[in-house]
Amino acid sequence: MFDLNAVRAEFPILERRTYLNSCSLGALSHRSEAYLGEFTERWHDMGASAWYRHWLGRVEDLRGRVATFLGTTPRELALLPSTSAALAVITESVPARGRNRVVCTELDFPTLAYQWAVKPEIELVVLRSPDGIRIDPEQFEAVVDERTLFLATSHVFFTTGYAQDLGALAEIARGVGALSLIDGYQGAGQIPVTLPSTGVDFYTNGPLKWLCGGPGLAYLYVRDELVEALEPRITSWFATNRQFEFDLEGFEYRPDARRFELGTPALPTVHTALGGQEIVDEVGIEHIALRNRELTDRLMAGVRDAGLRVRSAEADHRTAIVMIHHDDPPGAVKHLASHDIIVDYRPGFVRVSPHFYNSEAEVDRCVEVLASYKG
Ligand SMILES: Cc1ncc(COP(=O)(O)O)c(C=O)c1O
Repeated sequence: MFDLNAVRAEFPILERRTYLNSCSLGALSHRSEAYLGEFTERWHDMGASAWYRHWLGRVEDLRGRVATFLGTTPRELALLPSTSAALAVITESVPARGRNRVVCTELDFPTLAYQWAVKPEIELVVLRSPDGIRIDPEQFEAVVDERTLFLATSHVFFTTGYAQDLGALAEIARGVGALSLIDGYQGAGQIPVTLPSTGVDFYTNGPLKWLCGGPGLAYLYVRDELVEALEPRITSWFATNRQFEFDLEGFEYRPDARRFELGTPALPTVHTALGGQEIVDEVGIEHIALRNRELTDRLMAGVRDAGLRVRSAEADHRTAIVMIHHDDPPGAVKHLASHDIIVDYRPGFVRVSPHFYNSEAEVDRCVEVLASYKG
């Protein structure tokens, strides 16, 4: 599929630890470090003139690469400081049109729901999961109506790894004139996605986790037809066509998704993100998804053989976030860490997230050491 040893050699942490927590933070590569070195060297060498001669170009390199990766164009992609900022700018860009309902789910990452929890004028409907793993499209269908402004939910749920059907969600929203807003932080990077063909209106993602690019940036996709129709009510000098005219009275929105941007992007992250994205692109997202499925299947089988229980989505919706029932998750994670195995926990579960650079031996070792923990 790809040269695993060559890929592993890119990520120094794999020589030091058994690293199985990519859904929290993707591993740092030599490639990212080299880009970061280039950034700091130019800073030493050129100071602010590096902005015009190099760094603005790097920002556009990243935008172009991520746009291609998401199956879209740079025109539809904004760079923001975090998912939360990307969600906030969208909530401040869409007129209410007499609608005050937002539908999300109890399985979404809280920062999504918080956007409307702080707006008293909004009726926030939080769908409950029938099994703690998934939400069915029919549940959205039952409550997304003409009062609904946004259907806002995750691509992949962060504590269950369940991948939702974006096409179905987009259609449900569009059918009643609502907009679909998807938090894709746990999605693109571990499974393939071609955004325009899903029909979703907005999708956020970032380099931190599966894209191995570090903290400090988020990507915001805005569907082509909406880009110029929306006028954000929070803004910055990066959002105007006349950025370098410094004319207080000359604000004019850019004709592309940069109109959603909120100031200077984190340049160190632009560089580390380029390194991670290059590797992901070279390995190929189809290969990554297949590899992660192999590792996940092996992990789940091993855990079950060891007498532990896994909470898992059905095969068609499963991704590489594996939740293992446990009586003492913090203790188990500490025990694993004492054996140089890095995983994470959420209430009631040890959370293990392998990525394409992991080996079978690492997965097996994690299972063995976890099974040896007696509390
Ligand atoms: C699904 C999901 N959304 C959002 C976030 C965090 O977003 P932000 O960039 O605002 O910190 C995380 C994790 O950090 C996440 O897993």
